[in-house]
Amino acid sequence: MELAVKNITKTIKGREILSDITMTLYSGKVYGFVGRNGSGKTMLFRAISGLMGIDAGEICLDGRVLHRDMDILPHMGIILENAGLYPEYTGVRNLQILGKLTGVTPEAIREAIIRVGLDPDDKRTYQKYSLGMKQRIIIAQAIMEKPDILLLDEPTNALDESGVEQIRKVVGEEKERGALVLLASHNKEDIRLLADEIFLMESGRLRKGDGGQ
Ligand SMILES: Nc1ncnc2c1ncn2[C@@H]1O[C@H](COP(=O)(O)OP(=O)(O)O)[C@@H](O)[C@H]1O
Ligand SMILES: [Mg+2]
Repeated sequence: MELAVKNITKTIKGREILSDITMTLYSGKVYGFVGRNGSGKTMLFRAISGLMGIDAGEICLDGRVLHRDMDILPHMGIILENAGLYPEYTGVRNLQILGKLTGVTPEAIREAIIRVGLDPDDKRTYQKYSLGMKQRIIIAQAIMEKPDILLLDEPTNALDESGVEQIRKVVGEEKERGALVLLASHNKEDIRLLADEIFLMESGRLRKGDGGQ
């Protein structure tokens, strides 16, 4: 698949949050996004996901324009900051609810939970999860549908060392599976180990970069 972002721009309250961003991305690769806080990485991901509208430009998947020729990016797995799960349900129950919409099998849900290092039979509710456990279950939610495109916004945030390693392994496996992965991370090692190509964001602008290394 080819995901083409063409000259997208977004202005919020008179400030250009995304400025004329253009890039072409392909399946089976991991694209790393780096840049200081507030440079626009999360906003770019929100724009690609369709969670946020854009003022100009186009996002195309294999030549079809997103939100014009199709409603939503098909088979997209996404983790964004502040992803909301139901606090009063267990992890597995949350994923069952989300998976119902797209017909994910119970087996696929269990498998995803195990892959991120959690126990699918854990009886604790989401609100009792530690920060790292919350991050892991959100990643499980993103991968459970075996999406064509994965948007991973700071996936190793709040994770301990074993969690970081586990999630890096998952990202590598997703790439091998053929997913197109967008990875924003302020963890230089994540980017160095995983990214095939690195983009640097600066004040809403994108430039192909070396991650500042
Ligand atoms: N809900 C919002 N409304 C208006 N501006 C926002 C909102 N969220 C973020 N911004 C602004 O958008 C810019 C890019 O933010 P963000 O994409 O979150 O940066 P990054 O993920 O690279 O740290 C920042 O200037 C931020 O202040
Ligand atoms: Mg961000």
